Amino acid sequence: SAAEKGGHEYFMLKEIEEQPEALANTLRGHFVNGRIVLDEQRMSDQDLRDVDKVFVIACGSSYHAGLVAKYAIEHWCRLPVEVELASEFRYRDPVLDRDTLVVAISQSGETADTLEAVRHAREQKARVLAICNTNGAQIPRESDAVLYTHAGPEIGVASTKAFLAQIVANYLVGLALAQARGTKYPDEVAREFAELEAMPDAVSRVLTTVERVRALGRELADSKAVLFLGRHVGFPVALEGALKLKELAYMHAEGFAAGELKHGPIALIEEGLPVVVVMPSPKGRAVLHSKLVSNISEIQARGARTIVIAEEGDETVRPFADHLIEIPAVPTLLQPLVSTVPLQVLAAEIARSRGYDVDKPRNLAKSVTVE
Ligand code: AGP
Repeated sequence: SAAEKGGHEYFMLKEIEEQPEALANTLRGHFVNGRIVLDEQRMSDQDLRDVDKVFVIACGSSYHAGLVAKYAIEHWCRLPVEVELASEFRYRDPVLDRDTLVVAISQSGETADTLEAVRHAREQKARVLAICNTNGAQIPRESDAVLYTHAGPEIGVASTKAFLAQIVANYLVGLALAQARGTKYPDEVAREFAELEAMPDAVSRVLTTVERVRALGRELADSKAVLFLGRHVGFPVALEGALKLKELAYMHAEGFAAGELKHGPIALIEEGLPVVVVMPSPKGRAVLHSKLVSNISEIQARGARTIVIAEEGDETVRPFADHLIEIPAVPTLLQPLVSTVPLQVLAAEIARSRGYDVDKPRNLAKSVTVE
């Protein structure tokens, strides 16, 4: 009923709007007496100090959350991080030992490939930390430690609030590692945590643009395909935006690293093709920002319809943006928490306009327990 959906036409929109709360709940209780604490930590500080390599394993949207984690953990902890699709990892011979930390991300905690990847890692004595949204699910039960996301139950098959909560949980893991390894001073960890605590409000601010993004979604409903471009942490956001559109609107959508444009994807650009570009902050990543501005101008010159997600007050992109969606200024590494939100809304609204069931897309199950 509409009441269950919080007055919305579909659960997904309700869940998109619950994201500030999901983030706040996931952060709660993890900073105590000036230190990051993870839940049910069956791993000691010494175990965290001994970590010399990190593997992140997951499927689908959870894999995209893992890609975001790589940027943060490498930067904060100076540790090598590999992000792997669980379905590939489990059939390879990844090089792991007891000093490898494997972070397994799964909303449901029941995804067959991720579970098998966890078993594969533990057989080689790696320590596994699960990031999971479902209490007592199989993946956390078979892991050495678990960090629960507190997004609450997610009804929509397409992940929204669980995805943002997974990103936040990954940041907590990164900060816990940095704290244990001493690659960040305690006051720096405290400052990073304070930045995270400001994110629920930043997401609430993005939510004020929902109706405008929905209107844009209705305009794009007849498109044949949509491309998504991003760089740095904006690259996994582009992948996630494309996945949402495939899942919900059954539309051909691809996410690309913008730096790859000239290595192939630019050949796809044609008159009227919608291209969504996730811009980095002009202050945080000035070099990447200017490279993306030239990318947008190139694709616009070739007739594409540019949809630009950019920081509030970023005037340089205006001339090249056929549609501008503004997001609040936040630290670079945290930008996916705000830039993903309009892409979720866009996909849902395109799907709705095309007459599809946003909460139950065809051929998909909420948790993939068979391979
Ligand atoms: C997300 O929109 C998808 N439904 C799907 O990609 C999902 O993220 C994937 O199946 C992994 O699920 P999990 O997080 O429950 O393991």
